[in-house]
Amino acid sequence: MQIEDDWPGYNIDLFSSPTHYSGDLECVYIPHGVIMDRTERLARNIMDDLGDHDLVVLCVLKGGYQFSADLVEGIKTLSRNSNRSIPMRVHFIRLKSYLNDQSTEDLQIIGAEDLSFLNGKNVLIVEAIVDTGNTLKMLLKHVEGFRPKMIKVAGLLVKRVPHSVACLPDYVGFEIPNRFVVGYALDYNEYFRDLDHICVLSETGKMKYKI
Ligand code: HPA
Ligand code: MG
Repeated sequence: MQIEDDWPGYNIDLFSSPTHYSGDLECVYIPHGVIMDRTERLARNIMDDLGDHDLVVLCVLKGGYQFSADLVEGIKTLSRNSNRSIPMRVHFIRLKSYLNDQSTEDLQIIGAEDLSFLNGKNVLIVEAIVDTGNTLKMLLKHVEGFRPKMIKVAGLLVKRVPHSVACLPDYVGFEIPNRFVVGYALDYNEYFRDLDHICVLSETGKMKYKI
């Protein structure tokens, strides 16, 4: 689903958001309900492709926790309501690459652990956001080392950036312009994860939470 460059978002006052962030947000870019509806459809696409084998969901923290949780719920609902039901495991991996609203060069896997249980499994990597694709490329290489049967990637957001490497998720929620967004577990210096909608920060918000 494509969001065009000239999409202005919705006026912040048309929806409810936490009062502690009033003034910090420029607009609601993707309302929570739309995220949920799109996620439900992605869950169905994933089940159609992967629903015949055991699945390990690999949630990329921290930003991916909400999308993973809702995607897993969607897959569970579909499993419950069909005779094609699969065992699903959920695992977490933590990456960090952003300071303020800028990507840093050094991508880190924090607390990297042995993922040898991925051997022979279908793996679904779940990322909140993909922009240059560098993080995803690095992560794919890391996961491939454990020899899974298949690896697919679900990304809630893909940013249209100038120097993207050819590494895109198999399942994309929304393709968005190159703007810094927060909410739905996406942060700005650890703030705004507690916001349901995906929003664009205002200059006030950027200044207030800068480190
Ligand atoms: N928001 C929050 N975190 C991010 C973003 C973004 O737009 N891009 C990469 N990490
Ligand atoms: Mg972050």
